[in-house]
Amino acid sequence: MSVTLNVNGQNYAVDAEPDTPLLWALRDHIELTGTKFGCGIAMCGACTVHLDGQPVRSCSTPINYASGKKITTIEGVKSNTAKAVQQAWDEIQVAQCGYCQSGQIMSATALLESNPNPSDADIDAAMQGNVCRCATYVRIRSAIKSAAKELG
Ligand code: FES
Ligand code: FES
Repeated sequence: MSVTLNVNGQNYAVDAEPDTPLLWALRDHIELTGTKFGCGIAMCGACTVHLDGQPVRSCSTPINYASGKKITTIEGVKSNTAKAVQQAWDEIQVAQCGYCQSGQIMSATALLESNPNPSDADIDAAMQGNVCRCATYVRIRSAIKSAAKELG
């Protein structure tokens, strides 16, 4: 069975069952491996992508739900907000091992796109589902604030 997915502005016909997790389709069928597998049960955020601009856990999103929506991955997130976030991440050197960071960047970008000037509480609420085993949380918060300032 083929399911059409629009990823980063391009259509892909993915030959897989409709309940296949979007993460599998992205990594194994479309070969976009920037989105990471962490827990597989929507508990860590490593697999975060945007569906019509909203952050979702792709490990727990079936492809038939994602079909017809605009899917954006770390490889294709290129808005001004996304650029400011990635620049702040570089400047502050947020990443340690890096494994969780594409998910962190996708969540941070979605946050700033809906709330350009988030408080600490807003940041905590938006980022709480993104786990970092290297505990880069303080730098993540600084980078989000820095990107907000740059965009403001
Ligand atoms: S791999 Fe999807 S939330 Fe952990
Ligand atoms: S940077 Fe290592 S898990 Fe977050």
